[in-house]
Amino acid sequence: MVAAMIHPRHDYEDRGQGQVFRFFDDLAAEQQDELTRQASNIDLDEVERLYQTLVKNPGAGNESLADELQPAEFVPLPENGGSEVLWKEAYETGEAALRAGRVAAFTVAGGQGTRLGFDGPKGTFPVTPVRNAALFQVFAEKIRAAEARYGKPMPWFIMTSVINHEPTVDFFERHGHFGLDPERVHFFSQGLMPAVDEDGKILLAEKGSIALSPDGHGGSLRALVRSGAIDRMEADGIDTISYFQVDNPLVRCLDPAFIGFHLLGNSEMSSKALPKAYPEEKVGVFCRDGDGRDVVIEYSDLPERLANERDAAGELRFRAGSIAIHIFDRDFVKRLGTGADPDAVLPFHRAHKKVPHVDESGNAVSPTDPNAWKFEMFVFDSLPFAKNPVIIETAREDDFSPVKNAEGNDSPQTCRDDQLRQYARWAKAAGLEVSVDAETGLPAVAFEVTPTFADTEDRFLEAVAALDSKPVIVDETVLDCPDEE
Ligand code: UD1
Repeated sequence: MVAAMIHPRHDYEDRGQGQVFRFFDDLAAEQQDELTRQASNIDLDEVERLYQTLVKNPGAGNESLADELQPAEFVPLPENGGSEVLWKEAYETGEAALRAGRVAAFTVAGGQGTRLGFDGPKGTFPVTPVRNAALFQVFAEKIRAAEARYGKPMPWFIMTSVINHEPTVDFFERHGHFGLDPERVHFFSQGLMPAVDEDGKILLAEKGSIALSPDGHGGSLRALVRSGAIDRMEADGIDTISYFQVDNPLVRCLDPAFIGFHLLGNSEMSSKALPKAYPEEKVGVFCRDGDGRDVVIEYSDLPERLANERDAAGELRFRAGSIAIHIFDRDFVKRLGTGADPDAVLPFHRAHKKVPHVDESGNAVSPTDPNAWKFEMFVFDSLPFAKNPVIIETAREDDFSPVKNAEGNDSPQTCRDDQLRQYARWAKAAGLEVSVDAETGLPAVAFEVTPTFADTEDRFLEAVAALDSKPVIVDETVLDCPDEE
């Protein structure tokens, strides 16, 4: 910072945000410095614009938009009418890219994970049925499996936020990066946005700090650029980024067919879709907008009328659910993340939240009802800016079972069951003796297959065939890579 620069306090006072410095004169010197640093990083024009356009005068709403929406097209799975030849070609193209070291894995893990009620970064949540391996461990093992298969180190980029950066890095260090080369696991923190009250005033979390929260997973594009991750990828010959969320242990972190479809389509951004289980399912939906661009409409924004609409076959018309698994072209991220292209800027969304803060007398307030607005970007809003977007279908049981809530849907229990069902299917396919409940698909005993033993059914069949004898599955069996047992 330049010494002669005007202190942000003046700017804040001029702009009607002087409350941020209300307690400034009573703060210790380090606290003053910290508050000044936080304040200098906030773009007051942006905050004012977001308050005016999203809170004070929000747009016309969804109904006008809804009239123009059509379901987006996607490449169906072979079992649902897709071309076997095309899927095979895509798979081989993806494998070639992995073998050439062109692909990086990328996890967004900066969220607060409040719904799960788990104290700690969500990626450290124990998720597997027998080993209780954490989400991060599962991904690390999937990446290691790909490294072993394709003979190339696979870099992994992990986006954190101030809330969880240190405990995340610490978790990896304590666990020896789960066998990955630490040089190839890159952590960086995402950007922050201030929360404002009903009048657009920036709130203080404490007398000496602003109420800041992560700027949404859409902030990952900026953060990839600002952290230098994109430059590093460029230097290392990586042009393809495989993006997934921290909450889904079933995800195929580096899926050859998906990568292949993306590359064959010369696409800047590709996405996976799966048929929604029911109209209210909380996933975004792939649609085509009035300008013919593919977009994701968030579940809360899709009018109920459309969410419930059925086609002639009785299927949900808007059924292509977005499960937040994407592939990005590196230069596309650069274009959006630097803000270099004024026609490709991610919009912000507003969220009404309970934000603890200090009031004008300096008392701590813990609201019981939403009292403030937060602003976030969503990564899927980049889809309409992408050239040649590709959307492919995936099977829920192979790719998606997130842990979001403490109980009920998308909870540790449903995720555990989905993992067990997957292992049971694979074991059955390999002719192993496992008793499986015909109705629920659940095995009678809890067992686990580590990703380094096999991370897909095909790999499982190969791995079992390579053993001297068929493994016997009893309660708590863990099928692991021979050299790791
Ligand atoms: C999200 C998607 C939804 C999709 C569903 C699939 C949004 C708004 N919706 O819902 O369309 O169908 O997942 O599971 O995203 N994160 C950050 N930084 C942030 C905020 C979030 O890194 O500032 C990360 C989280 O750590 C997590 C992911 O983004 O990995 C998802 O965030 P979350 O807020 O849980 O999204 P959902 O509402 O569950």
